[in-house]
Amino acid sequence: MAPMQNKVICVLVLVSMLALGTLAQTQTEECEVAPEERENCGFPGITATECTSRDCCFNDSVRGFPWCFHPKAIEVPPEGTTFLYHGI
Ligand SMILES: *[C@@H]1O[C@H](CO)[C@@H](O)[C@H](O)[C@H]1NC(C)=O
Repeated sequence: MAPMQNKVICVLVLVSMLALGTLAQTQTEECEVAPEERENCGFPGITATECTSRDCCFNDSVRGFPWCFHPKAIEVPPEGTTFLYHGI
């Protein structure tokens, strides 16, 4: 038996789950920026492909505002954490 190996695999699984969870979170949340708060990331007429390859968000549903913009930086949301602890 190799209990050490099991432990290593366990840690690896845990770490990859955490990494995936963080990725999924940032992807769903950080591109939701109010049009008036958007900071232009590209140039007028930039394509979605060019925009996302710069690690920026593309949303052309709001005319008159930048289509390609920097994602909102989501660090640790203090409000969300407090809410979570209140719930428990
Ligand atoms: C684009 O932005 C608008 C305004 O913030 C939002 O309502 C809409 O859901 C966004 N569309 C996409 C595809 O993210």
